[in-house]
Order: sequence, then structure tokens, then C-alpha cells
Amino acid sequence: MNGMTDYITVTAEAATGRTGAIKLHGPEAFEGMRRAGRVAAETLDMIVPHMVPGVTMAEIDDLVRQFTLDNGAIPATLGYRGYAHSCCISINHVVCHGIPSDKTLKSGDIVNLDVTPIVDGWHGDTSRMFLIGDVPIKARKLVDVTYECLMLGIEQAKPGNHLGDIGHAIQTHAERHRYGVVRDFCGHGVGQMFHDAPEVVHVGRPGTGPELRPGMIFTIEPMINIGRPDVKLLDDGWTAVTRDRSLSAQFEHSIGITENGCEIFTASPKGLNNPPY
Ligand code: MF3
Ligand code: CO
Ligand code: CO
Repeated sequence: MNGMTDYITVTAEAATGRTGAIKLHGPEAFEGMRRAGRVAAETLDMIVPHMVPGVTMAEIDDLVRQFTLDNGAIPATLGYRGYAHSCCISINHVVCHGIPSDKTLKSGDIVNLDVTPIVDGWHGDTSRMFLIGDVPIKARKLVDVTYECLMLGIEQAKPGNHLGDIGHAIQTHAERHRYGVVRDFCGHGVGQMFHDAPEVVHVGRPGTGPELRPGMIFTIEPMINIGRPDVKLLDDGWTAVTRDRSLSAQFEHSIGITENGCEIFTASPKGLNNPPY
């Protein structure tokens, strides 16, 4: 690494392939991401009435897959690196990549549902937290602050700022509440690829990292723990949990940098962006 950042201007035809350079996408990409992001957000809107005590993770996964296919899309996670499900469901101390099973959601759980439909080749990647039944105030507070972290990060997503400004805004807000920001998983470039450059770290210093330019498309998806930032991977090779077993929360949007700010592709058409729904 020489400290320089590579950017590559791409057309819709040339937007595939991982070169390590940060892609600067054109209007066709924004149009594609708008459509994919809308299906992703509508999937999470659809699931709201189903996130209740007694529902199984597998039932949620089936609903996500069916809704995705009914909307002419394909779940990106299905068959991705051997992953065999249509979404990730991360409960309580699970940080991310929770695997749908026959396990039942119970009152008091805080649950992240992460979906990524592919629409005409474009990936709409988004997740939200859901409060199951009666959730204690400490857990609700974590969920609220995590959503604030995402939106404070998005506020920094504009030309001239740097990725470090996004990380700094998220880290500052989380640590003000004495929460831990997960380091082991990042946001990422997204588009015709599921995971592309750059890595979007959720901590940082102002003015550091790649400069943000119009046409960049990436996710911001902070994972915030009540306790320490450290995670460990379970034996299934996917499920990441907090080492200290503290509760963890996450929200994710896919965004594109515009001339004067950013566009959120995965905003809820119904305004159901964060609980209570
Ligand atoms: N949707 C996740 C993300 O935000 C990735 C899940 S990959 C899986 O990047 F294989 F674990 F599903
Ligand atoms: Co993502
Ligand atoms: Co995701």
C-alpha cells in the first residue's frame, strides 16, 4: 500500500469485477440500486407484523425468500460462500450472520434481520432491528443509539469528506454511551458485486481514509455492543457473537454519494426505518 486510493469510473456494462479500486458509478447504477434498495426495504417492511414471540427463524427466512422471489429478485446470500439461507437473523448477543434455524423468537429479544435481494444484477443490502414483545429499557436504548449511529454516519457521507469522518461520527456517539463498536466487520462497496471496495470501518479519525466522491456506492452497517467490541465466531463458521455475551445491535443502509450529499437506496417507503414500528 502506498497510501494512494485508486478510483475507477465505470459504466453499467463495465461495473463488474473486483479490482481493489473504488468504483465511481454512473446514473444507470443509481437507477439499479434504487430498485434493488426498494425491494430490500419493502422486504423488511413486509416482515414487521411477523416479528412476534413464537415465530421461528425458519419461518422468517421462508417469508423473506418468497417475498424476494415474488418481486423478481434473488436472495444474494442463498449459495453465497456456502451459506444456504435467504437472510441473516441475529438475536441478542449475536453480532451478525446469525443462521436461520427452528429456534423461536421470544419476548424480550432484540433481533437484527439483514436482507440482500439482487434485482437485475444490483444488490440492495439493508438491515434493521426488531423488538420482540416487551424489551427491557437497556436493550431498547442500545437499539436507539445504534440507529442514531447509522444516521450520524450517513450525515457525513458527502463529497469532500473522508471515510474516517463516517467512522468517527459513529464511534464518538457509541462511545459517549459507553458502548463498544465492533471492529471485525465493516460496511462495504456494493452494486453489481455483493462485497466490493472500499471497506467502511465504523471507527475512525476525521479527514482520514479515502475521500468520498460522487458515484461511490457502499453500505454503512455499524454493529454496537453494550459491552466490549470483541467478537468470536461460532463453530458453524458464520455466527459472530460478542465475547462477553453482551447485547449487540446493528442497522444497515446502502447509499450512493451524490454531488451534494448522498442518496439512501434502502429507506423504508412506509417510514418503518427504526422501532417501534
Ligand atoms: N448482508 C450481510 C452484509 O451486510 C452479508 C451476509 S453474507 C452471509 O454484508 F453469507 F452471511 F449471509
Ligand atoms: Co452489508
Ligand atoms: Co447486510
